[in-house]
Amino acid sequence: MRILIRGAAVVPKPEEGVLSADVVVEGKRFAGVFPTGEAGGEFDRVIEGEGKLLVPGFVNAHTHLPMTLFRGLAEDLALREWLEERIWPAERKLTPEVVYWFALLGLVEMIRTGTTAFADMYFFMEEVGKAVEEAGLRALLSYGIIAPTPDRIEPELKKAEAFAREWNGAAEGRIRCALSPHAPYTCGPEVWKEAVRLAKELKLPLHTHLCETRHEVEAHREAYGKGPVQWLEELGAFAVPVIAAHCVWVTEKDIDILAAHNVSVAHCPSSNLKLASGIAPVWAMVKGGVNVAIGTDGAASNNTLDMVREMRLAALLAKVRAEDPRAMPAPEALKSATQRGAAALGWAKDLGAIEEGHLADCVLLDLGAAHFAPGHDPLADLVYTACGADVEMVMVGGEILMEGRELQTLDEEKIVARCRELARKFR
Ligand code: NI
Repeated sequence: MRILIRGAAVVPKPEEGVLSADVVVEGKRFAGVFPTGEAGGEFDRVIEGEGKLLVPGFVNAHTHLPMTLFRGLAEDLALREWLEERIWPAERKLTPEVVYWFALLGLVEMIRTGTTAFADMYFFMEEVGKAVEEAGLRALLSYGIIAPTPDRIEPELKKAEAFAREWNGAAEGRIRCALSPHAPYTCGPEVWKEAVRLAKELKLPLHTHLCETRHEVEAHREAYGKGPVQWLEELGAFAVPVIAAHCVWVTEKDIDILAAHNVSVAHCPSSNLKLASGIAPVWAMVKGGVNVAIGTDGAASNNTLDMVREMRLAALLAKVRAEDPRAMPAPEALKSATQRGAAALGWAKDLGAIEEGHLADCVLLDLGAAHFAPGHDPLADLVYTACGADVEMVMVGGEILMEGRELQTLDEEKIVARCRELARKFR
């Protein structure tokens, strides 16, 4: 299959800005980016790009897809109350069927808002895997290990390992796996050591939550005499690739440690605001050499999976936190939402840019709407003006998942209806 995307405003990489170009896709990969009108040869499909913006697909570096079930269920509560009194009890009622349908619901939203790859941590992950396989996205999936008591350690690790062994490389390589001790406050040193050993053996990354709240970091210091970042470093956790969600309460020394070990941070601005966790020092981390990606977190604490909105918020918050409007300029925000996310998920060589040889994961946005006029700077328009609903075409590995805002792989109407029905049991 040879596809031409003709005459779009193209952002091959955020640092290269916007150019008018023809983009050729052959099979699963980009075959080239040419000045408009110069792509030659025969094409099986031509997608008209005039008046549209083509960017690398968005990468959501931290989410819990099936939590779409809990959107709107427990609002405006403190984190501990929200998690311990509302979310965790509701999660005990989950079934594989419910997880499957709400994963699909999340995937509908992801495709509609231009996400092409994501890192997901939850339970019943086989169901999430099945849903991802059908939807056509790329994902780094992991079973979330929560082992607050010693008797939970072995069964939890076994579940995580079994899932990773079975699903790593599934869906023609679109699905990869990670190991996920949920957080330093839900998993003790034994879990971490064993997870690191397994990650080395199976060549998998770790995906966890880190320094999300002030309370959690203070409690950790009291229990162990050091902060969670230094604690994990000393346990050897950073000897393997790590995605650390949040990192709101990190010190300058923590930032140095994260940078030195190439730890990727999944910054989740909406979730941090909604749960009043704080504002992460994003610009200090980027300047300090940390790979800062962006995540939505679960839809219960966001409440959307819209990476375009998340990117905007990340750019704005970074400026406030740094007290500098020059912090996190638009190209840097786009880089965190694409290239840095791809690197966090372990796909740095293949994803995050529109260039020859890269996997053809890209998104076309319609710039025709009034809110994009007059169009002085399409890249700034994308970061500061757009929302996910402006996305009209989504491609993953050369497969079109949405075109003309019509989903090609999922039956949206059926999924929404089924989810509305299943959600009644959780009220
Ligand atoms: Ni999370």
